[in-house]
Amino acid sequence: MSSKNFIHDSKLSGLGLSIFAIMSKMALDYNAINLSQGFPDFNCSEELIILVNKYQKEGFNQYAPMPGVQQLRERIAQKIKKLYKKGYDYNDEITITAGATQALFTAITAIIKSGDEVIIIEPAYDSYSPVVLMNGGTPKFVSLGKDFSFDWQSVKDSISERTKMIIINSPHNPTGSVLNESDIKVLEEITRNTKIILVSDEVYEHIIFDGQKHFSLCQSEELSQRSFVISSFGKTYHTTGWKIGYCTAPKTLTEEFRKIHQFIVFAVNTPIQYAYADYLNKPEHYLSLNSFYQSKRDLLISSLKESKFKITPTSGTYFQILDYSEISELNDMDFSTYLTKEIGVTVIPISPFCTIDKSRKIIRVCFAKRDEVLLQAAEKLKKI
Ligand SMILES: Cc1ncc(COP(=O)(O)O)c(C=O)c1O
Repeated sequence: MSSKNFIHDSKLSGLGLSIFAIMSKMALDYNAINLSQGFPDFNCSEELIILVNKYQKEGFNQYAPMPGVQQLRERIAQKIKKLYKKGYDYNDEITITAGATQALFTAITAIIKSGDEVIIIEPAYDSYSPVVLMNGGTPKFVSLGKDFSFDWQSVKDSISERTKMIIINSPHNPTGSVLNESDIKVLEEITRNTKIILVSDEVYEHIIFDGQKHFSLCQSEELSQRSFVISSFGKTYHTTGWKIGYCTAPKTLTEEFRKIHQFIVFAVNTPIQYAYADYLNKPEHYLSLNSFYQSKRDLLISSLKESKFKITPTSGTYFQILDYSEISELNDMDFSTYLTKEIGVTVIPISPFCTIDKSRKIIRVCFAKRDEVLLQAAEKLKKI
């Protein structure tokens, strides 16, 4: 018997399964090497697992405080002070979340009301726009420049009196672009004398290459006053499945954030928060992440040297864009399907991250994989 359809008016009509779910299933169906979804295929540190276990055994298994375990918030405040010279009050300005995804959802939901406009720079991580829409807001899309640099003039041109928020992501998924000091200055100018709130997605803050430095929006005295800065332990500690992140913001913004946070999750995983708090005392892990991932990026690029892909080395994140315009006329979805079915490597097409320009012949691969997997994938990709 077929079930009755009670949904007559979807809240997110036109939105289907995410491209990550589609491509990961395709990789499984065709037994292809999966370079699509962004997660490491190697384990996190044994020490971190032992710490989580220790806290579980010691009975830290009930609800954490709503804003997060105090030790963890304190350590995050110390780390931000040390790295970015910005002081956040761990009581009133830092909240631990169920991954960056929940922090993004919460920050956008805390601010956006019906009729508000939100500027989103694309290609854009896929969670931003649906959350804006769920809150009755209107996404205003602006493309990165041809070389994936930030096109501030277009951002400026998109601002209207309804603009309530701009969402920034650096290092940027999927292109690897990173904000530099002059971008920060321009952003200050653009938002000065406006009421625009910034959401800065900095989950790849520790994965940045070739000696470049991550510029956090919190480093700008001016921007930090209007910013939710979001990060994730998942990317930094090879623990994407643990889903713990955090949001730092001035007290008034954090108050609004927590009004929503308490009714979404109330609090997040207790023993893992204690474990991260201890592990944050070992900065050598996150300080070595740049070189760890840079050597993986370089291995992938050097093993694809004889291929026909055009490659500009990514500046940050664990993603590399491959330009296949000299290989195929297929659109990126069809080309990605072909790569999975015929070549045995699964990638992510970029068009689902875009509304403005879906025609570019580019795909994204994730190099957070064991070296032998990267070499095997490159061997296959070289053949086309
Ligand atoms: C740019 C960006 N933001 C946020 C997230 C989500 O992070 P989390 O897994 O901590 O929710 C991801 C994960 O891929 C991402 O790439």
